[in-house]
Amino acid sequence: MEPFDEPFSIDTKTILGLQLPTDPRWVNLAERSLQDILTDHAYCEQKAAISCISLIQRYSRKEKLVHELAPIVTEEWGHFRLVLAELQKRQLTLGNQRKDEYVNALLLFGQKGGAEEGRLLDQLLFMAMIEARSCERFKRLSEGLQDEYLRKFYRRFMESEAGHYTLFIELAETYIEKEKVRKRWQEWLLYEAELMQKLEVRGDRMH
Ligand SMILES: [Fe+2]
Ligand SMILES: [Fe+2]
Repeated sequence: MEPFDEPFSIDTKTILGLQLPTDPRWVNLAERSLQDILTDHAYCEQKAAISCISLIQRYSRKEKLVHELAPIVTEEWGHFRLVLAELQKRQLTLGNQRKDEYVNALLLFGQKGGAEEGRLLDQLLFMAMIEARSCERFKRLSEGLQDEYLRKFYRRFMESEAGHYTLFIELAETYIEKEKVRKRWQEWLLYEAELMQKLEVRGDRMH
């Protein structure tokens, strides 16, 4: 049995802390636009790898961060390749990268100037936020798709992203007081839930 065949349960409300579950219509829409959803997913994985590289470059003196994120770059790039292979297998092509409204809106929420501590905290929570929501979305796909192969395919991603979400929170707690991390994370969760409510439900994107 492959590890991803094991039952895996994530209570999105209590563990991931997300305040708003994904609209149930999303899975059905995504199922009908497989090429678009795979393309969008492929770019999400690329962006995850790139973001980890930038964090390593920006915080090269933070040893734990560098050592923990270095293998994540490889893992995210591996995810990109898995999605690319899936497109190829289905004789679908990687489409163009779209404007990512979700990520752009999250970027607006992060602290830009000021002390390094606040900026680092928001950069790590920004990553944690995307990992948490992606994990929830993969969970929806792994439970709601008709195709059994694809359900398993997405379950693997769900498990990975759950690990990444906790890693980013853990890294934040390494460098910043736990109480501050917890408080700011609650603010991120509320902001993200409001954002999710505003975004149109579309089957051609992961978020
Ligand atoms: Fe990933
Ligand atoms: Fe990830």
